[in-house]
Amino acid sequence: MTLQTLTIQSAQGTYPVLLGDSIVEDIVSHLHSLGILEGRTVFIVSDTHLEALGHVQALKHRLRTAGYQIGVSVVTAGDESKNVSTLCFLYEAMIEAGVRRDSVVVALGGGVIGDLAGFAAATFLRGVTFIQMPTTLLAHDSSLGGKTGINLPQGKNLVGAYYPPRAVLYDVSYLSTLPNREWRNGMAEVIKHGILGDASLFEKLEEHPSQMYSGPSASIALLTQAMSVKVKIVEQDEHETGLRMLLNIGHTVGHAVEKLSQYALGHGEAISIGMVVENQLAVHRGLLSEVDCRRICTVLAAHGLPTQLPEQSFAEVSALMGVDKKHLNQGWTFALPTEIGQATVVRDVTPAEVERAWNAIRDCAN
Ligand SMILES: NC(=O)c1ccc[n+]([C@@H]2O[C@H](COP(=O)([O-])OP(=O)(O)OC[C@H]3O[C@@H](n4cnc5c(N)ncnc54)[C@H](O)[C@@H]3O)[C@@H](O)[C@H]2O)c1
Ligand SMILES: [Zn+2]
Repeated sequence: MTLQTLTIQSAQGTYPVLLGDSIVEDIVSHLHSLGILEGRTVFIVSDTHLEALGHVQALKHRLRTAGYQIGVSVVTAGDESKNVSTLCFLYEAMIEAGVRRDSVVVALGGGVIGDLAGFAAATFLRGVTFIQMPTTLLAHDSSLGGKTGINLPQGKNLVGAYYPPRAVLYDVSYLSTLPNREWRNGMAEVIKHGILGDASLFEKLEEHPSQMYSGPSASIALLTQAMSVKVKIVEQDEHETGLRMLLNIGHTVGHAVEKLSQYALGHGEAISIGMVVENQLAVHRGLLSEVDCRRICTVLAAHGLPTQLPEQSFAEVSALMGVDKKHLNQGWTFALPTEIGQATVVRDVTPAEVERAWNAIRDCAN
């Protein structure tokens, strides 16, 4: 049994992140250490894929047998469930299950479930204790930092709250059932964390590319390292006024590319393309060396991520970038790598510069 612990300081208090391969087996003792004892209501939110795999039933059974009161709500798997009507469905299920101020909402799932259940926990009765149990690789990113929320028809993540969990209990054995494409999507964020804050993590990714789950010890080591980068940043800038923007590497172009594909591209796939374009922009600005730019591109490809531009024109991409909520008036804001393990935020990027980077990638692929 391996167990790693990280601790995160947030304005609302400190919370632990536990990474291990038998966290579910030992869930009762973990709840005890958090002061959550038998008799309390635990409301599990999960999705249809996790239910079909038996993960929901197994957790429910373990907790019920130990003497917790259990409520369960399973929503349709996929980002479409991060909406107002599913949120209302959760509130109703919470009322029915007798969720009170002293109950605990557990998000068993990926980023969709974490964001949705987290926002429900943040708002129901003005705040119910919330625990993240991530089941995807991407959730190493989304479960940290306290951002919760839902989408509106007008855009993703437009309604939300900063609501740190009481704990993140990350049992990596869930990753053994994760489809390989979801693994690769999550790897894009792991690579991002290496680029912006940990050169040794990046070097490991160069030496050992992984396109699928490769067992608990390798995953725990990888995730501990990647999560430590994010922990350091969100601790210093919980509400995204400065430093936290570094986490947007690849995301400015990536979000536009993701939207343009009508979400046929996964989030990690889109930010992989975003990183390729944005790194070129960093090279043009003299911020990043050609060598490091190439290293990043090679690592993305080695992890099975796309590095070629989509078919659409730059005009279509830039129209979508303009409406990104992260852009203020002066120019477009980008987080750009300056070397492997270091990044900076620039706020004066012009559409012409992005177009030049875009065209440089297009021309080099031809
Ligand atoms: N809050 C934040 O800071 C933050 C950061 C990044 C992303 N996000 C959000 O995260 C979401 C994306 O997260 P995601 O990629 O984890 O999506 P997801 O929750 O939709 O999971 C991806 C897919 O994998 C399935 N799945 C999950 N765990 C599984 C397992 N162990 N075995 C088999 N299948 C499994 C899910 O059912 C789903 O089909 C987006 O909504 C994004 O906006 C939030
Ligand atoms: Zn992301």
